[in-house]
Amino acid sequence: MKREWEERFSKSLFRSAAEATSTGNRLSVVDVGSGTGDALHLLEGALNHHRRPPVIDYLGLDLDPDMVEVARDLHRDRPRVEFAMADIRDGVPDRPTQLYLASGVPYSHLTREELTAVLADITATVRRHRTRSVVVLDVLGRYSMEWEPYWDFDRWTYAMTFFQGGEPAPEAKMSFYGQSDLATVIADGTRHGGLLPVRVEYFDRSIGVGRHTVTGAFNPALPPYRELVNRLFAGDVTVALPDLRIEDPCGEAPPEVLNFFTGFATRWNERLWHCAEVESTRWASAASRTRLARQLRDVEFSAQRGLGAGHSLICLLHLDGSTR
Ligand SMILES: C[S@@+](CC[C@H](N)C(=O)[O-])C[C@H]1O[C@@H](n2cnc3c(N)ncnc32)[C@H](O)[C@@H]1O
Repeated sequence: MKREWEERFSKSLFRSAAEATSTGNRLSVVDVGSGTGDALHLLEGALNHHRRPPVIDYLGLDLDPDMVEVARDLHRDRPRVEFAMADIRDGVPDRPTQLYLASGVPYSHLTREELTAVLADITATVRRHRTRSVVVLDVLGRYSMEWEPYWDFDRWTYAMTFFQGGEPAPEAKMSFYGQSDLATVIADGTRHGGLLPVRVEYFDRSIGVGRHTVTGAFNPALPPYRELVNRLFAGDVTVALPDLRIEDPCGEAPPEVLNFFTGFATRWNERLWHCAEVESTRWASAASRTRLARQLRDVEFSAQRGLGAGHSLICLLHLDGSTR
C-alpha cells in the first residue's frame, strides 16, 4: 500500500515545498540521490491539481552510474529532465535552484559531518544566486519502533531487506536522526553557508507502518503492522484486531519522544477498540476493515510531530538569499 501511505504523505510535503518557492510558472529542481527519478514523479503528481502546473527544469544527481543510466533511459523523451552522475559531497551545481528535492533517505548515507558540509554548500549557493529555495531533507528516523534496540546509536549498518526478493540484502552504514540531531546539523550547516533559515519544518513518515515492521530485521518483537494494515485496507476480515495493538516503546529516547509514543499508541489503539466494539454487534465486513485502515493512516498523519519517531524524518528547510 505504498501509494496509500508514503506517497500520499510525500506528495503533500513536495506540494507545500514547491508552492513556497515557486515564482510564476517555472520551477528549477535539483534532486539529490535521485535514483531512477521517483521523486520527480511524486512532485509532478503533487502539482498536477494546479490549473497551470509550473514547468519543471529538473536535474537528478546520483552516485550510482547504473541508476543514472536507467534513469536516463526511462526519461529519454523529456527535454527538461536531466540525470548526472555526481557525489553530493563534492558540491551542488553552481546555479539558481528553487527546490532541492530528496526522497528515499539519500542523506542518511552521509555522516553528520558530511551532511553539515553539504548543507553549508547548498546554503552558500542559495546565498550566491540570491534565490528563495526550499531544501527537502529526507533521513532515517532515529526513534522508529522498527529499530528500538538501536535507539542509542546514531549510525549503524542497515540492511535494505525490503528491496530483495529473498536474495542477500545490500547493507550500508546509515545515519539516523531525531529532530534535535537534525536541528544541530541544520544550524551548523546554514551558519557555515552564511544564511539563517527562514523556517524549518519537521515531519515523521511511517510511524506505525515502517517497512521493517514486516522484515523484523532490527526489532523482531514487533508485530508486522505494515502487512496487517495493508490487509485491512484490502478488506481482510480475518485480521485479528488485537494483533495490531501498539505497546508504548520503552527504549532510551528523549522524554518528548516517549511522550509522543504514549499519545500515538493511545489514539491508534482507541481506533482498534472502537472497530472491535462495532464488529461485536454486527459482523466484521470488508468495508469496516478498510475504514479502520484509513483511520489508522489518519492517526499517523495527524499525530506526527517530526521528532524522528517514524521510518523517515523529513525536513523542509526554507532559505531566502534574495533579501540579504
Ligand atoms: C534509496 S535510494 C532513493 C532513490 C530515489 N530518490 C527514490 O526515491 O527512489 C538512495 C539513493 O541515494 C544515492 N546516494 C547515496 N549517497 C549519495 C551521494 N553521496 N551522492 C549522490 N547520491 C547518493 C544512492 O546511489 C541511491 O540511489
